[in-house]
Amino acid sequence: MAFPPLLFPLFSLLLATLSLAQTPSAPAPTPEGPINVTAILEKGGQYTTLIRLLNTTQVGDQINNQLNNSHDGMTVFAPTDNAFSNLPSGTLNNLNPQQQVQLILYHVAPKYYSRADLLTVSNPVRTQASGQDGGVWGLYFSGEGNQVNVSTGVVETQINNALRQEAPLAVYEVDKVLIPKEFSEAKAPVASPPPSTNTSTGSNTTKSTGAAAEAPESGSGRLQMGVGLVAGVGLFCMGLLS
Ligand SMILES: *[C@@H]1O[C@H](CO)[C@@H](O)[C@H](O)[C@H]1NC(C)=O
Ligand SMILES: *[C@@H]1O[C@H](CO)[C@@H](O)[C@H](O)[C@H]1NC(C)=O
Ligand SMILES: *[C@@H]1O[C@H](CO)[C@@H](O)[C@H](O)[C@H]1NC(C)=O
Ligand SMILES: *[C@@H]1O[C@H](CO)[C@@H](O)[C@H](O)[C@H]1NC(C)=O
Ligand SMILES: *[C@@H]1O[C@H](CO)[C@@H](O)[C@H](O)[C@H]1NC(C)=O
Ligand SMILES: *[C@@H]1O[C@H](CO)[C@@H](O)[C@H](O)[C@H]1NC(C)=O
Repeated sequence: MAFPPLLFPLFSLLLATLSLAQTPSAPAPTPEGPINVTAILEKGGQYTTLIRLLNTTQVGDQINNQLNNSHDGMTVFAPTDNAFSNLPSGTLNNLNPQQQVQLILYHVAPKYYSRADLLTVSNPVRTQASGQDGGVWGLYFSGEGNQVNVSTGVVETQINNALRQEAPLAVYEVDKVLIPKEFSEAKAPVASPPPSTNTSTGSNTTKSTGAAAEAPESGSGRLQMGVGLVAGVGLFCMGLLS
């Protein structure tokens, strides 16, 4: 038989073609279809807290929509589960819903930045939280060589891994939660828990703004209780009359 020698190369060529066809088919899902931040983070495998927060704050949907509708792209700084668990205990729970949204928005920049872009960008870099409360809510980048650091003014860390770095979306792993300095400036409860002696400097102003910000809610709560009380007394009186 003269065939096997011929068939063998053909067969192995076929195998090679098949495996070649399979290798590129793994990254293939990314380019087509709308970009889904949650899916990218899920693949990363260590972002369950961030995924949960993106979901509850609906910032995840916002990112996906904006990616589909803007030409600037976006950049997400993704704290790992470790980063969240390294926060002082109660940090997240002490944030009201609005602050949780602000915290997550602060991890998102409304523009695509490659690592090289971050090295030359002019500081501070606007985030999705910028402009709220008249605060800057900016991030500060610095670097040497290939190393990029990000700082909030309160927290600084290095940017190591990119989960994705391809316009229009960059997702970078960060091993610290980027606590905005606006939290410690405007609303004491979050980042400045040191119960040491000299918290007095800022706590005056912070307490008053914090109280002012929360006043409407507790005020309406009291109002509702008041209405309930009046209605209850009214019903009681009607009961007496009938
Ligand atoms: C994004 O991906 C997540 C996780 O894979 C999935 O639960 C969600 O439905 C996706 N969202 C959209 C809009 O496709
Ligand atoms: C997102 O939140 C909804 C309810 O608000 C929940 O049904 C859903 O499972 C959550 N998805 C993820 C990925 O956490
Ligand atoms: C993306 O935008 C296009 C038009 O701008 C729209 O038709 C499409 O439904 C959008 N897709 C998503 C997932 O929002
Ligand atoms: C980056 O941050 C690390 C600490 O996380 C620090 O040791 C290093 O000096 C910083 N590098 C630059 C260029 O700021
Ligand atoms: C607290 O601040 C005052 C001045 O503002 C200073 O004299 C004092 O030493 C400070 N105390 C501590 C414990 O830092
Ligand atoms: C704190 O309050 C005292 C009086 O209550 C005031 O004299 C002082 O200036 C305030 N400090 C700041 C930083 O606002």
